[in-house]
Amino acid sequence: MHSFHYRNGTLHCEEVNLETLADQHGTPLYVYSSATVRDHYRRLSGSLHSLDHLVCYAVKANSNLAILNLLVREGAGFDIVSAGELFRVLQAGGKAEQCTFAGVGKTKAEIAYALEAGVHSFNVESESELAAISEVARAHGKVAPFAIRVNPDVAAGGHKYISTGKSENKFGIGIERVADVYAKAAKLGGVRPVGVQMHIGSQITEAGPFAMAVERMLPLAEKLKTGHDIEFLSIGGGIGIAYQSSLASGENEWWHRRDTPAPTLTLEGYAAAVAPLLRGLGLRILLEPGRLIVGNAGVLLTRVLYRKVTPAKRFVIVDAGMNDLIRPALYSGYHEIVPVREPARDARRETADVVGPVCESGDFFAQGRELPLTNAGDVVALMSAGAYGFAMASNYNSRPMPAEILVDGQRAAVVRERQSLADLIRGESIPAW
Ligand code: LLP
Repeated sequence: MHSFHYRNGTLHCEEVNLETLADQHGTPLYVYSSATVRDHYRRLSGSLHSLDHLVCYAVKANSNLAILNLLVREGAGFDIVSAGELFRVLQAGGKAEQCTFAGVGKTKAEIAYALEAGVHSFNVESESELAAISEVARAHGKVAPFAIRVNPDVAAGGHKYISTGKSENKFGIGIERVADVYAKAAKLGGVRPVGVQMHIGSQITEAGPFAMAVERMLPLAEKLKTGHDIEFLSIGGGIGIAYQSSLASGENEWWHRRDTPAPTLTLEGYAAAVAPLLRGLGLRILLEPGRLIVGNAGVLLTRVLYRKVTPAKRFVIVDAGMNDLIRPALYSGYHEIVPVREPARDARRETADVVGPVCESGDFFAQGRELPLTNAGDVVALMSAGAYGFAMASNYNSRPMPAEILVDGQRAAVVRERQSLADLIRGESIPAW
């Protein structure tokens, strides 16, 4: 499916001209494709048709209400990590019973909110958290459904900050201790085991680690199934996507496979690696994909403000900054940068740093990247920005957060207004003394 493509010389999202959107709504501007979100959700769910499963979209990747609502309408569940994310899902029309509540540091207030709302289950990351959940549940006259997040000690993930399944990470409980924790839970009174969960990392671009982690979980899941009557195994998220295309090699016919996962990992490959292992288990399988669903469904449009040539380098200075998209600064994340006006095949190219206006050397989107020459006023698209883009945006340097647009076919709707200057100081005050 081609959701972002050049048509008549201009980059489009589905049927909508991105230059027109940038002119109408200003830049920086996030634009999302509904068709791509739906397609990714359906393809993932379809690839696992042989399993009783529920795809719980990881809200942290992109929590805009309109994106959540799209997924509600597809029948998705949600993986949440805070009271705020649960609130968003409920506001978007989602059901608490379809939400798994993850995260190492849930507060008692969050636990109470989630219990009252009736979440599907709590993914528990430590024994002290389990005790806290039990205590809150008993105080509310409830029994909280839980699953232990198991740390299977498998190395995976695109960057050390997003690898979570090794024993030295803060996540989960060591696989060797898990059976004991389930046994102890029975004595707490306020909790009831319903499943077991794992997640090994993010932006994983090969099937091997997923299969290895599932294999490690199977004996444990079998044991828990008989001893504790659990109903589900969640195999987490982490499916990697393609961030790089052939544009870097000077080709313009590059966007055609942007909606596929990472080149080395197809959805079919993922499903082929895990589904046969899980088929005979007799448990419902939950998944928690974030990036796969929304990553390549979004772009960040930004306008070139200035060009600057120094003896050492060429800089293209754009109006988006690290506060709008922090992935390059934080994880050395790669985002393709594409002029919205299609460059001619023989267009002049240059090697430049693409940088933002924030007062930090880390405020760059590309360094030493070969790109078609752009001029002040041109709009460029930072591709694959739908996951962990706006969701990680901040007001650093007192920069208002960008607007977000959702496209569906020929339609485009503002799904979050650009912040105003007044928004920047909302809630602040100067003491009277
Ligand atoms: N489940 C759990 C328990 C997680 O911690 C995460 C992501 C997911 C599911 C979803 O993972 P995904 O399918 O999106 O890979 N900000 C980083 C990524 C951080 C991922 C955190 N956990 C980035 O921009 O690359």
